[in-house]
Formats: sequence, structure tokens, C-alpha cells
Amino acid sequence: METTIEMPSVSVPGNVTDTRSLPFGKVPTDHMFIAEYADGKWKNARITPFQDLVLSPMALCLHYGQTVFEGMKAFRMNDGRINVFRIDKHYDRFIKSLDRMCMPAVPKDLFVNAIDRLVSLDADWVPSDEDGSLYLRPFMIASEGRIGVKVADEYLFMIIASPAHKYYAAPLRVKVETEYVRAAEGGTGAAKCGGNYGGAFYPTGLAKAQGFDQVLWTDAKTHELIEESGTMNAMFVIDGTIITPRLSGSILDGVTRDSLLTIAREKGMPVEERSISYKELLAAFTSGKRVEAFGAGTAAVIAPIATISIDGKDHDCYTGDDALMYRLRQYLYDIRKGIVADGHHWNHIIG
Ligand SMILES: Cc1ncc(COP(=O)(O)O)c(C=O)c1O
Repeated sequence: METTIEMPSVSVPGNVTDTRSLPFGKVPTDHMFIAEYADGKWKNARITPFQDLVLSPMALCLHYGQTVFEGMKAFRMNDGRINVFRIDKHYDRFIKSLDRMCMPAVPKDLFVNAIDRLVSLDADWVPSDEDGSLYLRPFMIASEGRIGVKVADEYLFMIIASPAHKYYAAPLRVKVETEYVRAAEGGTGAAKCGGNYGGAFYPTGLAKAQGFDQVLWTDAKTHELIEESGTMNAMFVIDGTIITPRLSGSILDGVTRDSLLTIAREKGMPVEERSISYKELLAAFTSGKRVEAFGAGTAAVIAPIATISIDGKDHDCYTGDDALMYRLRQYLYDIRKGIVADGHHWNHIIG
């Protein structure tokens, strides 16, 4: 049965200006979606003008970190229609993250209808330029007011949106991190929950103070196996083979990662999902092999890495115009923009 979503009684005047100069995630669109969970049921699903929340200072999310989010994008296709990319995979991951954090599932029809309605209402906010998209942030927080370490009985599920353009202006300089860890196998690294990000700020801040854009995390057991970077999965191209860390349970199952691997396999490019140590990278650099490295994620799409620092020494990655990562980026772009056929039904067309 379809969940009813109440629409705003007063329409907010469209407030869109040129969004290209806006910093990522700074300016929300005119509306937001919100639904409440209590007594085992979702209720009061509605779209409202974007507004502040009223929340008890005792809300459990503020103390014990029961918060989960997703990050996805709506694109303006070349024919003017809007598509939300890979809504199904984002939904599935949201449900898995919620399960890991003992939070209630959101029915798929509620998730999809809420996105459809919100994006339709704020359609003027979906940029049409080459790098533009509307970033969508579905998220859930434990709203029950109670001091005491427990799983909450009440939650808010919300969706907000913000126009996005190029995430990184230039290829990145990253440092292989061997002291601090982001996540351990058996922990919450594969869930998109708030604590994973809060815990990463300190080591990332140290790396930034040393002139790096990001860290390349290594595994918690050996500190040798590459994990991921910031809000991106790590990918390498060594001697023409695409190599990316396997889904060990401590990294996120990235939607961009999955899309790129699917495309690469279809195009007949060699792909390996396996453990890769920084020592293997070092050996490739020292033997003079051509190494491409990039981060793959919804926000940054493909972020080329120009330099990887290992044990305090910089190594240059290949970023020339004929790099394979740019071909992959173009294939992905062409699907999202409707330039080539969407053989996997990845584009969820609005309207
Ligand atoms: C920790 C982490 N790894 C990887 C990714 C890339 O995932 P996706 O391609 O689904 O955005 C993200 C972003 O969501 C992330 O936060």
C-alpha cells in the first residue's frame, strides 16, 4: 500500500539563482521531506518548506550516534528530464546501514515517492550544466528523548537536497595512513553512519595540516591493505588493470564503485576486486609502472589522485589526458545524461 505524503499547503517561491559558485552542500533547496516513526509505524509523512527541527536535547541521536544517511544525485538529462541515479542500490544500502544501527527500515515506496515528490517540487534546482547535479541526502536520526544507552523507539526520516558542482578543483595529494584507522572488520565501516565520519576528522585534519587533501586509509589489523579515502572508494589502474579493494566489511559498498566496475567489465577492461597493499603500490611505482589512482564516490564522481605519499615519500600517479579513469568517467556521464542507452535501468526518471 502506498504511504500518503502530505504536500505543502503554501508553495514556497522558487529561490534559485546561479548555483555554480555555491560551495558543496551549503545551500538547501526550498523544500524538505520528513516522516516520523513511533509505536512501530511510520506516520505524518510530509513535504514542507525547508526549516529547522524541534528536537529534545535528550534525543538519543545526539548522545549515542544512532544516525544513518545516504548520498545520491539527481541529474538533468540532455533531453531536459531529471533522473535520480541508482535509487534502488542507494535504498538497499540505506536499509543495510539502518539494520546495522538497529534502526527501523523505511518502506521502499515511501523512500521512492518522497524523492519523486521532493525532486519534482524543487526541479528548478537541478542544474543542467556539465558538472551540475542535485545532491540528495536521505537520513534518519533517533529522536526519542531519553538519557540512557538504549536503542531508540522513535525516529525521524528526512530528505534534504542541495545543488552540487565539481567537488575537487584539482587532482589530489593523498597520504597512506598507517597510524590511525577509520574502521575495523566487524565494526561499522560498511554502514553509512555518522560515527564513521566524526572519527575520521582528526587524522584527516592532521594530514591536511601536512599539505594533503585526504588520507588513504589502511586496514586495522596490518595497516598495509588500502581501504578507502574520505568519502570515496579507492581505485587504481596498474599496467591497464583496474584494481580496487574487495568489500571486506570495513569499507563502504560504493554505488559509484559498483557502476564503474560494471561498466569496465562490459567494456572488456580487466578488473580485480581484491586486497591491495601499499607495498604493492610502492613496488609498482619503483619499477616504473604506469599507476593511475582515483577516488570514486557520488559527490566527487571520479577524483584523480596526482600524488600518493608512502612513508613520507611522494609518488606521482599518471593523470594524462588518455588515462583510463577519464574514459570511465565519460561512460558514466553518458549514461546519466541519457546520451547512451541505460542498459541496467540505473536512471530513475522523475515525472
Ligand atoms: C566512506 C565512503 N566511502 C565511499 C563512498 C562512495 O560511495 P558512493 O559511490 O555510493 O557515493 C562514500 C560516499 O558515499 C563514503 O562516504
